[in-house]
Amino acid sequence: MANKTEIRVTFGNRAYNAPVLIGTEGEHAVDIRKLRSETGFITYDEGYGNTGSCESAITFIDGEKGILRYRGYPIEELAARSNFIESAYLVIYGELPSARQLEDFRNNILIGANVHEGLRSSFAGFPATAHPMAVLSAMLNALGCYYPELSTNNRRQDIENFDKTATVLISKVRTLAAMSHRIRSGYPIIYPKRGYNYCENFLHMMFSLPGEDRQMPPDVAKVLDTVLLLHLDHEQNCSTSTVRMVGSGGANLFASVSAGVCALWGPMHGGANQAVIEMLTRIDASGDDGSAFVKRAKSGEERLMGFGHRVYKNYDPRAKILHAQCVKLVDTLGIDDPLLKIAHRLEDMAMNDEYFKSRNLYPNVDFYSGIILRALGIPVDMFPVIFALGRMPGWIAQWKEMAERPGGKIYRPRQVYVGERERKFIPLMERVSAEPAK
Ligand code: CMC
Repeated sequence: MANKTEIRVTFGNRAYNAPVLIGTEGEHAVDIRKLRSETGFITYDEGYGNTGSCESAITFIDGEKGILRYRGYPIEELAARSNFIESAYLVIYGELPSARQLEDFRNNILIGANVHEGLRSSFAGFPATAHPMAVLSAMLNALGCYYPELSTNNRRQDIENFDKTATVLISKVRTLAAMSHRIRSGYPIIYPKRGYNYCENFLHMMFSLPGEDRQMPPDVAKVLDTVLLLHLDHEQNCSTSTVRMVGSGGANLFASVSAGVCALWGPMHGGANQAVIEMLTRIDASGDDGSAFVKRAKSGEERLMGFGHRVYKNYDPRAKILHAQCVKLVDTLGIDDPLLKIAHRLEDMAMNDEYFKSRNLYPNVDFYSGIILRALGIPVDMFPVIFALGRMPGWIAQWKEMAERPGGKIYRPRQVYVGERERKFIPLMERVSAEPAK
């Protein structure tokens, strides 16, 4: 990062000379690391919209122009010419793999796909009503218990074993996700099979029957591969910041990504793909052509799920690719999905409406991914789980970058305290008068 000039900020009679840092793509950042120690002031930035929490060389986003690159490679090029596993290697290690590196990486993921039988009994502890994201988060932490040598919370040792931990997680997260679906649906568990690629194996574990593999056109697994590739990394979003936050305290990778799953779950983040389908289903069931819903979204009664983004103020480049894949997939499978028609109508209405135009609200990655996952037969409440499968290598890469940074600090934001000032303790007998009258 280049260090260009300084900005002088004055606080009453005190001044702070803030260095300006410039990233490789020309982004400027005011370095306030010494602000509090030199002036007593902190900054206030609710939601962190103006705060850089780290230096990172993994993903670049230009939200105004709708650009997304992993390690410098445009997302469009990777989606067209690479695949999930190769791009996962790129995101984690910084360079595209050689043929040998790719083969080793892929083989390690393939041979690591089975999980300890003990984990199977852990699934029995969840009620059938458990959300698959709750189960996934718990099972990833449980997985770490089966690898004490990889989850030591001794930073030096966890970094030394990083390569193995990374492949264990990428491989087994997919097995755990499929197992949770099978167990809660009452189906026998299907074990991973040699000869299938990453996504073929996931679909096999989700949908095959003992002795009878589910047949599907090869394009279908390829579409899922593209979905995962497009979700690989997205700089310092809510779940990735959570992974780095948890890891910054010294926690191992299993614990950190388990927390990442919880952060991803919410409907404003990775749960949006589930929320989009639920929204489209509601619109369809009500007989609305979408216009009544758009009206409610504009008045603040509803949110148009799958629209808007903290960083993109232009069409999300991932949504563009997924829209094309979505149209192709429903055509290949011969599906006539009424929800796709509603989605198209909503997009048309929003794109021509002053409310959405003036706020730069465009479809994001979740707007069309749900329709793809629905067409693949994935249950709606597992959509965020698919997001987590795709995001896993990104979380791993971000944890590595954070953990390996010399002199890395524990993440610990400050606050502006607005509560009571110091006051005297009131004994219990004297507090009754404060009770509301019945
Ligand atoms: N529908 C209607 N109005 C919206 C929407 C929406 N989806 N998103 C933002 N707005 C309005 C918002 O009400 C506000 O209006 P006003 O200026 O009048 O108060 C303005 O646009 C700015 O919104 P914001 O909430 O300040 O924007 P944000 O950057 O804090 O939130 C967001 C970004 C993604 C949380 C939000 O756009 C949203 O809730 N979208 C729907 C959920 C969604 O699709 N999430 C998936 C994001 S992509 C996957 C991922 O990376 O996590």
